[in-house]
Amino acid sequence: MVLEQMTLEEKLQMVHGSGWGVLRPGTPYPAESNHGAGFVPAIPRLGIPKIDLADSAVGVRMSAFDGRYSTLLPSALALAGSWDLDAAHLYGEVIGRELRAQGFNMSIGGGMDLTREPRNGRNFEYAGEDPVLAGNMVGHLAMGVQSQHVMGDIKHYAFNDQETLRNTINVVMDKRTMRETDLLGFEIAIKLAQPAGVMCAYNKVNGDWACENDYLLNEVLKKDWGFKGWVLSDWEATHSTVKAANAGLDQEMPGEDYFGQKLKDAIAGGQVSMERLNDMNHRILRSMFAAGVIDYPVRRSVVDPFQGKDDAQHIAEESIVLLKNERNQLPLVAGKVRRIALIGGHADVAVISGGGSAQVDAPGGNAIDPQHGGTVWGKPVYFPSSPMKAIRKLAPSAEVTYTSGDDAAAAASAAKGADVAIVFATEYMTEGADAANLSLPGNQDALISAVAAANPHTVVALETGGPVSMPWAGQVSGVLAAWYPGIGGGEAIANLLFGQVNPSGKLPITFPKSDADLPEPKIVGREERSPNSDNGRARRSGSADLQYKEGLAIGYRWYEVSNHQPMFAFGHGLSYTTFRYSGLQVDKSAVHFTVTNTGKVAGAEVAQVYVRLPQAAGEPFQRLAGWERLTLAPGESRTVTVPLNPAWISIFDEKADRWQLLPGDYGVEVGGASDAIAVKGTVRLGE
Ligand code: BGC
Repeated sequence: MVLEQMTLEEKLQMVHGSGWGVLRPGTPYPAESNHGAGFVPAIPRLGIPKIDLADSAVGVRMSAFDGRYSTLLPSALALAGSWDLDAAHLYGEVIGRELRAQGFNMSIGGGMDLTREPRNGRNFEYAGEDPVLAGNMVGHLAMGVQSQHVMGDIKHYAFNDQETLRNTINVVMDKRTMRETDLLGFEIAIKLAQPAGVMCAYNKVNGDWACENDYLLNEVLKKDWGFKGWVLSDWEATHSTVKAANAGLDQEMPGEDYFGQKLKDAIAGGQVSMERLNDMNHRILRSMFAAGVIDYPVRRSVVDPFQGKDDAQHIAEESIVLLKNERNQLPLVAGKVRRIALIGGHADVAVISGGGSAQVDAPGGNAIDPQHGGTVWGKPVYFPSSPMKAIRKLAPSAEVTYTSGDDAAAAASAAKGADVAIVFATEYMTEGADAANLSLPGNQDALISAVAAANPHTVVALETGGPVSMPWAGQVSGVLAAWYPGIGGGEAIANLLFGQVNPSGKLPITFPKSDADLPEPKIVGREERSPNSDNGRARRSGSADLQYKEGLAIGYRWYEVSNHQPMFAFGHGLSYTTFRYSGLQVDKSAVHFTVTNTGKVAGAEVAQVYVRLPQAAGEPFQRLAGWERLTLAPGESRTVTVPLNPAWISIFDEKADRWQLLPGDYGVEVGGASDAIAVKGTVRLGE
């Protein structure tokens, strides 16, 4: 009914943004805009509100611009490490709640690209390397956003799996591999959340730009998955008018290079039909109604930073992964440790955050370099959550020292004689650049070795965007992966170190031993790369075909088929208690087993179910088929049922263009990690 009332001009106005605005200083932006990454004006005579969207991958971006506050959540990859669907929903709620309070009605977070390239600068915005885990986590996250009557989004569709050459690269992949890996993740997330938007990516896929890719947009997303929302382009990822419009792009962002006058001309000339323009508008309008931005118009209020911090800390405490804990080095016992040497990572004042369009502004400015003005692209921002303060609170009678770590010898001497030395190792990652390799930047590997040589009780807390290599792993007694832990990160790390919280995170991504073990020991195209791209303005010249070598064997599957033992496997994560698995029973629809807490403290376990397809599939590796996260008191047992969802363990038959649950025997493996299978069975399926 609304659509019928709209004029041609109004319909055209809806299908593109109003320019770069605040993202490109010096360019004008409309007075009514709320200063987010994109803006579409309202149509007051029809009661259609403006679309005010903001980047919000790990919290709302650019809030300091207007003196507003946003909660920095742990990275999305951290969230995936919790394997907790409720935490994912909460994560989205925080984002939705704060977007509303700040006057935005759409989120453009929801990063869903799978990790094919562990050095990808944006892995921290995504949910790891497994389609079933990532799809479910991102789907619940987007549901959380939309629960606040804010439109959600899932991006970058598809195969924007590295930043190197992201504006030119052509990902070449067969349909089966696409459908069973990255697209399966998108499918799960999109079907769960029914997001308002799907943002198409910068790169090409099989020769066509992602934003004018008929297969990805029309055939798969809209026809096959029944997506009812709209496709918006990544910022300047639109490359044509007629081709893009007919291939399924519904809205150009952030400006109108192709979907303004040129689209009007194409409609007048009949190259793009009026039905298609109506469809674009229908998709946008129905999503506004569906998410509730029309019935519940955004009303500005003040973000509650305390609620935000509690939520962020809770998620961090579930997502930090205890990778190594030799001789039960951890938890530290407050009365017993008299001297604690903290080293590096600015742990005296702060935790690090990820950059790019996922950068959240720190309250009070960068905690290690407070300056006037907003965040600078490419410059690491630290948030005022001090691990040192939190540790001092938990161990009030201990002497807690801090040494910067710039000088390894000075750090080693500070560590000597301490009851425990804790090194905080950081790695800044950002959109627009990949890490050259898996090594921790700067002198940190040497620093850790020097400290470990001086003190056998050395624990490393990693604050990184993703996996890093650990040549010193054998020398230290404990390692925590704290990811980017968010505004409650300092407290969360301290709570885990002292056992106030029992670690329960599990790796959503493999930590390989070295770059040599990766499908591509060097990132494709890195040599030809232009300097750090600014907000998507990267050079468009040059192109490379990229055929990911691992293909179907993405993530942990690669290490199995290539016979490389990882440093820490997918799904790995230790606890201060132990769990026993027993009583496996498998039927055609579910896997049943019992988990018992065999230790002395309460703890949560993420019980993982992997499946091995019949030989005829030609997929000789584990596939995650489901999981259950459960909290158990000491001695407590619980029987768990994990459904076998055929959609997650099928193969995509490219010739027949359909999914097939192959007939045959399926191996079922259950345990606390992909490499810690406790019980096994088989089941005959597909007949
Ligand atoms: C990024 C998107 C982001 C957009 C708007 C692009 O450079 O790839 O993820 O949403 O900019 O800031």
